[in-house]
Amino acid sequence: MMPVYKDSSCSPEQRADDLLARMTLEEKIGQMIQISCSVASESEAEEWAAHRFAGSFLYAFGDTAKHLQELALSTRLGIPILFGIDAIHGHALNTGATVFPSQLSMSCSWNPELVQKAGRVTAKEVASEGLHWTFSPVLCLGRDLRWGRINETFGEDQYLAGILGAAIIKGYQGEHLADPDSILACAKHYIAYGESLGGRDSYDTSASMRKVREVFLPPFAEAVKAGCATMMASYQSVDGTPVSASEKLLKDLLKDELGFKGFVVTDWENVRNLVVRQGVAADMKEAAAKALNAGNDMIMNTPEFYYAAIELVKAGVVKESIIDQAVRRILFIKFALGLFDGKCRPQNNKHNTLACSEHLDINMKLTRESIVLLENRNNILPLKSNIKKIAVIGPNADDIQAQFGDWTYFSHPDLNPSAVPKIETWTVLRGIKELSSKYKAEVVYHKGCDIMDPEDQDIEGAARLASSADAVIAVIGDCLAQNGEYKDRADLDLSGSQQKLLEALKACGKPLIVVLVNGKPLSIPWAAKYSDALIEAFNSGMFGGKAVAEIIFGETNPSGRLSISFPYHSGQLPVYYNQLPGWHGAKYMDMPSEPLYSFGYGLSYTSFEYSNLKLSKNICNTDDTVAVNTDVRNTGSIDGMETVQLYVRDLASSVVTPVKQLKGFKKVEIKAGETVTIEIPLDIRELFIVNEAEEYVVEPGEFEIMVGPDSRDSVLHKTRLVVE
Ligand code: NOJ
Repeated sequence: MMPVYKDSSCSPEQRADDLLARMTLEEKIGQMIQISCSVASESEAEEWAAHRFAGSFLYAFGDTAKHLQELALSTRLGIPILFGIDAIHGHALNTGATVFPSQLSMSCSWNPELVQKAGRVTAKEVASEGLHWTFSPVLCLGRDLRWGRINETFGEDQYLAGILGAAIIKGYQGEHLADPDSILACAKHYIAYGESLGGRDSYDTSASMRKVREVFLPPFAEAVKAGCATMMASYQSVDGTPVSASEKLLKDLLKDELGFKGFVVTDWENVRNLVVRQGVAADMKEAAAKALNAGNDMIMNTPEFYYAAIELVKAGVVKESIIDQAVRRILFIKFALGLFDGKCRPQNNKHNTLACSEHLDINMKLTRESIVLLENRNNILPLKSNIKKIAVIGPNADDIQAQFGDWTYFSHPDLNPSAVPKIETWTVLRGIKELSSKYKAEVVYHKGCDIMDPEDQDIEGAARLASSADAVIAVIGDCLAQNGEYKDRADLDLSGSQQKLLEALKACGKPLIVVLVNGKPLSIPWAAKYSDALIEAFNSGMFGGKAVAEIIFGETNPSGRLSISFPYHSGQLPVYYNQLPGWHGAKYMDMPSEPLYSFGYGLSYTSFEYSNLKLSKNICNTDDTVAVNTDVRNTGSIDGMETVQLYVRDLASSVVTPVKQLKGFKKVEIKAGETVTIEIPLDIRELFIVNEAEEYVVEPGEFEIMVGPDSRDSVLHKTRLVVE
């Protein structure tokens, strides 16, 4: 009779239980090991696949992955390997794949449908290579802009991050995990990782559990609801306990309370670092015991865990049932994914899938909607037809690596600045050149200066060229060396000689359009004040330059809105919008405390007017849903997209609550001159606070309901709601 685990008509649960009962201790603990092909030699990797039953590998590509899989399939039980990869904004470690905007950039689209489609495209491209699992999305909040990984976040807000996170997870995982095009998502880095001390990556997060629950948990709770198959435990400690050693955070909160059914993978070397860096275990055995008891299921890149865990179980220090719980979760996901039913091998024809026209189409749409217009003085944009010569100047005008940002073949698994994309890429220079031909404008280019090296500059040369033109497009920002792990910044001002370059260009007296190509918000008060137009593109992927050019020439009406606030100066941090109210003046004596640009902000080539804010009821119960209605009129002469935003404030509560919190939004297309009525449902359960006893409660009382185009008080329409 066919064993239950091989019978695809049985449920993943039944099959996992059956297989588990057949496994030796070594086979079980092997499943918990994830080996990195960027570290292990070829023979070590083979050894792990063939003789130590490693459950997963990362950074194994193409033929290497195929070979390791065949080795695993030829072992006694033939348990297939799960291959993981960092497909962070597209399957972008593969030179032929679609490269999407970074998570931060795509979050400015405020478009969950397109974000979900981007996830689906990525899944198809990853699956086509025979890989099964992406370590994405990042659900950490980008609240301390000094942190090197801001570019990987969906911005600063837990509500928006939750919506977009759930969307991309649904894209990766599809309707069914077993679908040939579906891959596993991994919500990371659980939890409160973006808030580590001083914006320094992987240092302690000094947050109370109350704050963890209120601020950092909601996007992960959304991920669980969306059926996210895996979660990654973050590097850092929360209030002194490393996440991978925290039973409270992993087992109690994530698994027992949120009901997470998938498995937890540690981040890179988390278990080793319980000994080596964090010093909460004296040796590997103690670290392994802590990690097991806390609820880590798979161990990334600490292979010595394998030997330690076997010894711990044999010595009776750790119960085998703890191992069983972890392995059952891993096997359950492997079965649910269809790994035992043929999906262990490449899924579809790579050449027809990678960067195919359907995928590029979706990417172009998302890129267009991700770009944010921050200034447009005297409607300088779109450029008018009397502009006959355009000077494109600046270090990021023609630098695809800066435009791509982190987590592509230029940066991972190893630095590879000479990698050559096998896809079409559009820098801003290319975009302006190609689109300008329609407008019969001449385009000239000068790099001006380097991003990192202040000595490497020819500002005079750039200014000379700028003086000869009718308009200047300055493309500046940051570069790969300033973003990512190990790249936190204390100073967010423009680096190198970029500020000097801008001032010299301004002195030419020509309209100055500044385009920012960067990983995260920089402190740019001068550019904000003196540019004629300012465009934030962030890391906009392969089509960024085309989308920017379309906006500059008016072929696209910009619709991106900031998912993150900009500071005047890094000394102001944090500047996120949903802060708790305080006393004694809302500013520094030498600087405002408001951001330079606020969460939710962004301009269009048309304008929108809000009126008639109404609630379906003004008094409600704690389990009601109230419809929030507003009229929005496009008062300009062209069609445009508006993102209508709903904020709430709890006016009296048992703990201090944010001055406002996003609780809904709707992105709509409104024709010129048209008025539409927008309805946003407000689920009253969303008005929860976390009280002193760490309980989620909706406290009855009065709430301020605010609707408008962004998070600034000055533009929000307000009304009140009573919850009984
Ligand atoms: C470490 C990073 O923190 C994590 O985001 C990534 O997925 C893993 N390395 C694997 O590359």
